Amino acid sequence: MKPDIQWANAERAAELSTRYNVTPLTPAFRVDPQFEADVLDGLDDDPKHLPSIWLYDRRGSELFEEITEVAEYYPTRTETRLLAGLAPQLESEIGGVHTLVEIGSGSSRKTRLLLAAMHSLRRYVPVDISADFLHDAAAGLARDFPHLAVQPVVADFTAPFALPGGASDDSAGNLGFFPGSTIGNFTPDAAIDLMTQLGRTLGSRSRLLIGVDTTQDPALLIPAYDDAAGVTAAFNLNLLDRINRELDGDFDSRDFRHLARHDPHHGRIEMHLVSQRAQEVHVRGRTFMFAAGETIHTENCYKYSPTQFLHMAHAAKWRCERSWQDGGRTGFTVYLLRRDS
Ligand code: AVJ
Repeated sequence: MKPDIQWANAERAAELSTRYNVTPLTPAFRVDPQFEADVLDGLDDDPKHLPSIWLYDRRGSELFEEITEVAEYYPTRTETRLLAGLAPQLESEIGGVHTLVEIGSGSSRKTRLLLAAMHSLRRYVPVDISADFLHDAAAGLARDFPHLAVQPVVADFTAPFALPGGASDDSAGNLGFFPGSTIGNFTPDAAIDLMTQLGRTLGSRSRLLIGVDTTQDPALLIPAYDDAAGVTAAFNLNLLDRINRELDGDFDSRDFRHLARHDPHHGRIEMHLVSQRAQEVHVRGRTFMFAAGETIHTENCYKYSPTQFLHMAHAAKWRCERSWQDGGRTGFTVYLLRRDS
């Protein structure tokens, strides 16, 4: 049996369920009104941009899973190795953890390492924006870890969301898990806001296990975000197909090219879609003009150094209990943070 999904925004779920005549617990095809608003605003802006969160529809989430397996994409492999090493130590490091809350859970693949190693866990709460992807991943975990209560939450975790069953008075048993260097999708200010809000959701005595990529080496970064097999390009270009599918767009994705660019000043990798010629595109009946070479900025991946990251964590009222750093070229680091209040 698939576990029920809790919608973080009950009002929106109710609205959508009436509009599309589905029950909120059944993931069905639906267009998020915020997607439409973001696309129309972002394409109207100069320079054009789209929030990276919309890259992750079902197809995008699948393509991202493929990215994690290409040879050039080092973060997943590096973090998985770190987690495999630290998971057995966690139990003694933090006894009595009963609830694991995973932020942006995707396929929950890495989570299995923690679930298998931490025997005190009773509850797993995966939080993700992609409802149907979340549903499948949660069902697989519920099957493989029958002693765990699996309680998925469909939410844009950048907005405050509630844990199922409400705030626990036993927040020392809550462990947040935010892997994959997803924190890199946030500017420093937004990352501080997000970590502050996660601290409120998880509670005053909770902990957070978070993976952060650090390298600024373009020789490592550019291939990782522009792999030879073109999986990252397909992932980026899927956003145009999604606009066509959900918002009556007429993008021809052959007229756009994927670009990964390192910005050392901001310490980030940027993904863009570059228009290959001057063209006109229509979305929801509106016209958008592209010059040849004009880009849509679709994602930022900040690579935060330990100094930068700890500075942000402190500003968000977390302090570092332990960290595990990759000894190789990437410097990828997993931090165990504790609420500092
Ligand atoms: C999911 C945000 C961690 O920044 O490495 C991978 C997204 N984009 N390749 C990353 C991504 C292109 C990924 N995160």
